[in-house]
Amino acid sequence: TGLVTFDPGFTSTAACSSAITYIDGDAGILRYRGYPIDQLAGNSTFLEVSYLLIYGELPSQQQLDAFTNRISRHTLLHEDLKRFFEGFPRDAHPMPVLSSAVSALSTFYQDSLDPHDEEAVELSTVRLMAKVFTIAAYAYKKSVGQPFLYPDNSLGLVENFLRMTFGFPAEPYELDPDMVRALDTLLILHADHEQNCSTSTVRLVGSSQANLFASISAGINALFGPLHGGANQAVLEMLTRIKDVEGGNVDDFVNRVKNKEQGAKLMGFGHRVYKNYDPRAKIVKEQAETILKKLGVNDPLLDIAMTLEEKALADDYFVERKLYPNVDFYTGVIYRAMGFPVKMFTVLFALGRLPGWIAHWREMMNDPQNKIGRPRQLYTGSAERLYVPVGQR
Ligand code: CMC
Repeated sequence: TGLVTFDPGFTSTAACSSAITYIDGDAGILRYRGYPIDQLAGNSTFLEVSYLLIYGELPSQQQLDAFTNRISRHTLLHEDLKRFFEGFPRDAHPMPVLSSAVSALSTFYQDSLDPHDEEAVELSTVRLMAKVFTIAAYAYKKSVGQPFLYPDNSLGLVENFLRMTFGFPAEPYELDPDMVRALDTLLILHADHEQNCSTSTVRLVGSSQANLFASISAGINALFGPLHGGANQAVLEMLTRIKDVEGGNVDDFVNRVKNKEQGAKLMGFGHRVYKNYDPRAKIVKEQAETILKKLGVNDPLLDIAMTLEEKALADDYFVERKLYPNVDFYTGVIYRAMGFPVKMFTVLFALGRLPGWIAHWREMMNDPQNKIGRPRQLYTGSAERLYVPVGQR
């Protein structure tokens, strides 16, 4: 069976080669297809970045228009799929609703499942890019008991999502350009992050030649966990607890984290790869300050977050362990200012990560070195023993 290396958590095992995203964790560098994240966040749009991740190059205007038009033709959900939402409990978390509905796409769109048919992969790519935004908006509408809105294809993807989320069928929805731009930028920041837990999940599931919808649905479930995408929800819950239950006492909280009381962690801090700073967190922090000002929101949670960051960065516990704010630390404060309930935060992460997952799945399917993912183990169970019939045990 050959030599097996033991690497729990895959801290030093490369499971694939990839040309999509480059991270230098010591230098705090993140690039999509060679382009630095701050340049993309400052100048590009989410759809342009999606094109870049999926197809490898920035699009020409014509290519971008064609991509945008193709996506907008697929924003509708099948009426039968819409009925799925009625079956979930009213207080259902929108993440499992999202992953279930994405999984169900395999049953509605059976003509685009073959992972080796280029046209089918193209079709399921645009279907996902369009429909996941509609599904996310419906998951929200379901949770607040409001009617679903059909997409309006005269709007862009992000605009349409905001309208379907916050709008009502009976009245026009006024889009706030600051909010559209801020959400678009946040989606760019989340769009890919090489072999993180959910992307590795998409690759592992896809390595069995499972279709794109099934693989992405698995990635959404991986993202749900509080150590991964679920951290943005956990951060806001932590900040709210500090404000409401602990009277804003940040020092006490930091001490409890340092003493690891009941496994307390400073959510939104730390990263497997970034040991200097997370370049996304820097951009999000600036965004939080400007967008709250633009939206006229004064949120005490932002002050608590800033104090928490300041104290942690000056504390030996965090310094020694190289723990810095990650992308999730400030995003929740922005989502909250935009009017999203805490339960939707991880869904917004999933919307952003979608093109990255798709790009990795496609890269893997086209990689001649690709094999089914099948890790080995170190067996720690008992040695051979004899079966004893139940009456003699
Ligand atoms: N608060 C307090 N201590 C921490 C934290 C934290 N947030 N993160 C790590 N540590 C400590 C950890 O207890 C350990 O200490 P010790 O050496 O005394 O045992 C040391 O730092 C090393 O941590 P680790 O758990 O071995 O590091 P990891 O690479 O396995 O975990 C992580 C990375 C992101 C899961 C972890 O830092 C964490 O749980 N952070 C909080 C959750 C979070 O914010 N997740 C979002 C990550 S970024 C976006 C995304 O991927 O979705």
